[in-house]
Amino acid sequence: MSHTKLIPNDTQRTSGKEVRSYNIHAAQLIKSLIESCYGPLGNEKIYIDIIGESTCTKDGATFLRKIDVQHPAAKVLIDATNTVDNEVGDGTLTTAIIATTLLEKAQEMLAMDIYPSTIVNGYDKGLQCSLETLRNIARKVSSKDMAIIEKLARTCLGTKVRLSSDPQSELNNILEITVNAINTVYSNNNYLLEADDIKIEEKIGNLGESILIDGVLIDKSIDSDLMPRFVKNARILLLDEDLQTRTTKTESQLSINSPEHMYLFRKEENNITRDKIQIIIDSGINVVINRKGIDLVAQDLLAKFGIISVKRVKENDLHWLEKATGGNLIKELDVGNIQSNVGYAKNVYEKKIGTDKMIFVEGCNNPKTVSILIRANSKMMLDEYHRAIQSTITSLSRFVQHPSIVIGGGSCEALMAQQVRKRANTIEGMEQIVLLKFSEALEEIPLILAKNSGLNLMDAFIQLRLNLSQNFNTNKVKWFGLDSDERKISQLDWDIIEPTIVKEQVLNTAVEVSRLLINIDDIIIKKPLMNTHTHEDGTEHSHAGGDKKHDHYFDRLGKQQRPQHHYY
Ligand SMILES: Nc1ncnc2c1ncn2[C@@H]1O[C@H](COP(=O)(O)OP(=O)(O)OP(=O)(O)O)[C@@H](O)[C@H]1O
Ligand SMILES: [Mg+2]
Repeated sequence: MSHTKLIPNDTQRTSGKEVRSYNIHAAQLIKSLIESCYGPLGNEKIYIDIIGESTCTKDGATFLRKIDVQHPAAKVLIDATNTVDNEVGDGTLTTAIIATTLLEKAQEMLAMDIYPSTIVNGYDKGLQCSLETLRNIARKVSSKDMAIIEKLARTCLGTKVRLSSDPQSELNNILEITVNAINTVYSNNNYLLEADDIKIEEKIGNLGESILIDGVLIDKSIDSDLMPRFVKNARILLLDEDLQTRTTKTESQLSINSPEHMYLFRKEENNITRDKIQIIIDSGINVVINRKGIDLVAQDLLAKFGIISVKRVKENDLHWLEKATGGNLIKELDVGNIQSNVGYAKNVYEKKIGTDKMIFVEGCNNPKTVSILIRANSKMMLDEYHRAIQSTITSLSRFVQHPSIVIGGGSCEALMAQQVRKRANTIEGMEQIVLLKFSEALEEIPLILAKNSGLNLMDAFIQLRLNLSQNFNTNKVKWFGLDSDERKISQLDWDIIEPTIVKEQVLNTAVEVSRLLINIDDIIIKKPLMNTHTHEDGTEHSHAGGDKKHDHYFDRLGKQQRPQHHYY
């Protein structure tokens, strides 16, 4: 029996040079798809899925997640961009461009008969040299310097939202709101910032009407028309307990023989709820926000005492309310535990936003969480702004842990490339070529930025190398990259800045993924059995084993708290 018979018919095997060639082709396809999105002057992409829902984005990770590629190498690359997205929130396109260019360069070297392990070793040396350079050229700053935080937010947000040089422009409203939101939570949280400290809600409308709320915005309405629409000096009860007549969960029989017994039975049932409501009234609460249900009897009683209630609020919203109002979620209502867990807000009110009603819990004292309400005239734009703000917050949350910055516009990559080229000249053997190719891959960043802003690629390349030569024989580093206002390669100042931690993550991930793909010399693919199915919360997707009962970790997180790639 031939050894190939050992592999079943529904399994496909590809080996050796062919595998590398396929992997590199997959990488080239990805690069060609994304490079025109790159940078502040990049283009948008529209993706329309199988049910006709369209996504318009410039966000690398989002676009790559959407295109459902089958090739394993492309999947590895997409996973790498997801990792960068989840870890540092920004730099996904940079990762994909560097990784795919490293693979392209590997193809050229394989054609020169340079062995894969030599390429991998050379790439490792290139990475080490780049990281060393990065540490040498980066500037340590104070994590509390709000001017730096504003500039970092402007660079990150500015690649997705076209910010204007006119400070009055509506577009700058989003930047201002994001920076203010970060400042508020950051200082109230004792100079700590978490990506989910800021709640983002979206509603169709005018961009200029986007607002920051120093509290929490809930996409719900007040339970009853009899309740007030506005409560000042709110004492808020955050509850996780039914305020409704309970039905027995086990099967049971009850024989009631007379109307009087029926009356007494109903009365006793209602009394349990009434007692709980009495506790609420006695403790001076005027807003009840409940994860569970509140029935009509309870709503009427609350309304009678001028108390607002909101039932069936999402668990995540309640966590945000806890952080904003200083209250704690109560699982069992009790006279003893109510006062110490009450939350406060200046105003709680319902307001019509667009066509829907929303609840504002506003004017919280030193809120540890705030909300941003984004308005834009289409769902596609809302989603894009949402992603851009989320990315900015995530990347800033990483910056405050490692407060160090570099200049953007491709100047940082150009300086690293220059150092790697210098190092190459000191190395003997084939690795010298590998290091030179590595430096070319880094230089691709300023060059693609230049290309996307309409510069001639050759001119940009010559200008960049010419300018960088000024850095020879001097200790004072000059940064050269794309000046997007002037649309030319020139010396840059500390205005377009980025967190060093993002650059480190990008380099490590890009080299790791290219190393992995160069090392693969066998792919065995079993014909997949895909099953499209819908989860309880409405997520529809397909994967092998989808016909059997299964659980994804994101099911437990709730839709709002999911990592971005499941949320969008
Ligand atoms: N105003 C600017 N002028 C010049 N270059 C800029 C400017 N703003 C940002 N950049 C550069 O644009 C690049 C980032 O572009 P972009 O945000 O599209 O990609 P990314 O951050 O890698 O991916 P993503 O944001 O989709 O995760 C960085 O190299 C950054 O230095
Ligand atoms: Mg970016």
